[in-house]
Amino acid sequence: MGFKEEIKRRRTFGIISHPDAGKTTLTEKLLLFGGAIHVAGAVKSNKIKKTATSDFMEIERQRGISVATSVMGFEYKGHKINILDTPGHQDFAEDTYRTLTACDSVIIVIDVAKGVEAQTRKLMKVCRMRKTPVIVFINKMDRLGKDAFDLLDEIEKELQLSVNPLSWPINMGPDFKGVYNIYHKNLSLFTPATQTVEESIDFDDISNPKLEEYIGEDAEVLREELDLVSGVYPEFDVQDYLDAKIAPVFFGSALNNFGVRELLDVFIKVAPSPLPCQTVERVIEPEEEKFSGFVFKIHANMDPNHRDRIAFVKIVSGTFKRNKPYLHVRNGKKLKFSSPTAFMAEKKSIVEEAFPGDIIGLHDTGNFKIGDTLTEGEKINFKGIPSFSPELFKYIENADPMKSKQLAKGIDQLMDEGVAQLFVSQFNGRKVIGTVGALQFEVIEYRLLHEYSASCRWEPIQLHKACWIKTEDEEQLKEFKKAKYQYMAKDKHGRDVFLADSGYMLQMAQSNYPNLEFHFTSEF
Ligand code: G4P
Repeated sequence: MGFKEEIKRRRTFGIISHPDAGKTTLTEKLLLFGGAIHVAGAVKSNKIKKTATSDFMEIERQRGISVATSVMGFEYKGHKINILDTPGHQDFAEDTYRTLTACDSVIIVIDVAKGVEAQTRKLMKVCRMRKTPVIVFINKMDRLGKDAFDLLDEIEKELQLSVNPLSWPINMGPDFKGVYNIYHKNLSLFTPATQTVEESIDFDDISNPKLEEYIGEDAEVLREELDLVSGVYPEFDVQDYLDAKIAPVFFGSALNNFGVRELLDVFIKVAPSPLPCQTVERVIEPEEEKFSGFVFKIHANMDPNHRDRIAFVKIVSGTFKRNKPYLHVRNGKKLKFSSPTAFMAEKKSIVEEAFPGDIIGLHDTGNFKIGDTLTEGEKINFKGIPSFSPELFKYIENADPMKSKQLAKGIDQLMDEGVAQLFVSQFNGRKVIGTVGALQFEVIEYRLLHEYSASCRWEPIQLHKACWIKTEDEEQLKEFKKAKYQYMAKDKHGRDVFLADSGYMLQMAQSNYPNLEFHFTSEF
């Protein structure tokens, strides 16, 4: 197969949802179709259950599972599918944001009874920012939930996402009969089952009285509803989906393996193959001959005696080859990788070569940071892995004076991995750790002790947000930094960050320094 065909047949995407909507179940059913697994239950959820918040062994176990399920590749109808797993727990949202930078498209799972939930809203914001094409899967149709029209309205309003149903449910809950596939014009009848896959029946013309034979009096309702659908929603335009202007919607029940194949079959047809990628310097096209890629995730070894890590690299262009020297752009070093791994289902194996859209795992002894670029020599830097302002902040202090070196190293490496963010106060030189959730502080403390033999102590600091500042007005920036010197810090890249201690203070800063822009993400 030629290089271009290899690119064209790849689909690299992420599944996102609020916890419990059915992401893990859907992933598993997709893998079943790909023959990547053979029984349900083979994919362990990597979600950290609520009960685990203070159970560190549980965190470690989950970390282990999440290495295996970070990327799941499989073949389906001539396509190479790569599913990138995203942690559902909100304390790890930052991890999910970064993984989304390696996804060419996204499937959002929504629970029909619960509708749009907090985590869905947050993740969709990131997709909007990146203009990622989105498909919506409304799950748990075997349960009673919201009316389909109402739910679609809710999604449009809450997620600021125009939708276009490509399938339509016939009743729901105990009376759920199946879905009519608007895209393929066929009917799929629902039989609760967890393993088998039903055949669908072609139905070009739903006015055909045969419809009654299959779904009885629901046929009339379906006709009316489809009539309404075609009135309300325009004809599906693939380009609008690819431009992230419209999101196709499917209905089904992941647990019952229903509606999943319809989703997958349309997905492989319409979802984008690997997309061009922006660097600071220029746009990189996947078809370019020379290899390039970026690190979007780093995973530490589970074994504390081996402090090596796996860097997950998304290949953007060219062919990656084992044992070929590549330039690590940030530190200017050439590196060779003798055992790059590919991920097929839950197995890892060494690969000789990999193509755009693929994710490879590179053994790392501490060279990589999230966002690093690898090339054949060109000095480019991929963009688009922003840091988001943390929600919670604490001072980190050394609790064991004999181990200050270990502590510094540990903090450094955990920050490279993206576990949390470090800000160094320009006022007193103290280190401030910012996280998305409380769980991270516990993870950091635990890992510092177990992997670096360092003890830390947390001290409170009253902070509202960390803001990155952008301005053309150097004079005003200088003035601002002078006036707010107690609140100025540097992030890990040495950029100026304003640590606002309250919303009011931030508001005052915004109105007193109108030429400064305050951003809650590090890329704008
Ligand atoms: P998540 O990864 O998004 O957090 O959700 P997950 O797939 O783990 O699903 C959450 C719960 O919802 C699971 O039940 C799962 O069995 C159930 N579920 C998923 N899809 C459907 C569906 O189509 N219909 C119905 N009725 N339930 C569905 P659980 O009891 O929380 O977990 P488990 O102990 O069964 O694994």
